[in-house]
Amino acid sequence: MTQIIFITADEQEHVLEADSGSLMELAVANNIAGIDGDCGGVCSCATCHVHIAPEDKARVGEASEIEADMLELAENVTENSRLCCQIAISDKLEGIRVTVAEG
Ligand code: FES
Repeated sequence: MTQIIFITADEQEHVLEADSGSLMELAVANNIAGIDGDCGGVCSCATCHVHIAPEDKARVGEASEIEADMLELAENVTENSRLCCQIAISDKLEGIRVTVAEG
């Protein structure tokens, strides 16, 4: 199991575990506030916007061109922004910290 730490707007840390699927699916299954996953994970809604902890960015990787285009429509975008439906859970992500983006 891979541990993923979600930080919500109330500054609570939620330590979740999964073997597969996307970060968005994990967050929605665990009712993480602010992650809605409205489009079901096809990169067309930006309701799964998170900020990756800077120290974890290299392990998570960069957004695809399609994801970057969708992020342009989101609020509170930073250089650490990702749409978490586009991040597949694997053991290389063990312990990463992602903060739910506001807006
Ligand atoms: S769930 Fe819609 S873009 Fe991620």
